[in-house]
Amino acid sequence: VSDGLSDLIRARVRDVPGFPQEGVTFRDITPLLADGTAFSAVIGHLADVFSGAVDAVAGIEARGFLLAAPLASVLGCSLLTVRKAGKLPPPVLSADYQLEYGSASIEIPADALRPGARVAVLDDVLATGGTAAAACALLERAGATITGLGFLLELGELGGRDRLPGRELHTLVTY
Ligand code: PRP
Repeated sequence: VSDGLSDLIRARVRDVPGFPQEGVTFRDITPLLADGTAFSAVIGHLADVFSGAVDAVAGIEARGFLLAAPLASVLGCSLLTVRKAGKLPPPVLSADYQLEYGSASIEIPADALRPGARVAVLDDVLATGGTAAAACALLERAGATITGLGFLLELGELGGRDRLPGRELHTLVTY
């Protein structure tokens, strides 16, 4: 990532200390989404990273969708939404995982992918890595080959990388 893009992202992420709970600083990407030039540069960078290497882009609900949808459109590949439990009609494949604050479950349609499909996984933030690890495991159960993962922000101190050994990780800004 160029210094210019990295600085632009940092300037457009709002830090909110004490949200959603004491001791946590929330990284709000709303100002980045509101800046068309900055957001286009983010998608352009991700498109360069994954160009020619993927059959599908999988976005993790909800903010991962914001990156995955424009990226899939630019790449001209499939868009796959990894949903929170209870949103998709059956048949689905599910995976449970631990969050920074609590536990959750994610789902994809059981027939979402053809065997061997090359998939990039996109989300806004890599925190503990629980969500991304569960998404990779779920997509692999559906037949995917995970090409790599893309994150706008990485919260380094939470050790998410350690939950994703051997995965190709692309993070635009690390805190
Ligand atoms: C946030 C973020 C990632 C996940 C990262 O999602 O968007 O999906 O947490 O945490 P982890 O690395 O510790 O698993 P959240 O559940 O807040 O959902 P949202 O995007 O719908 O707001």
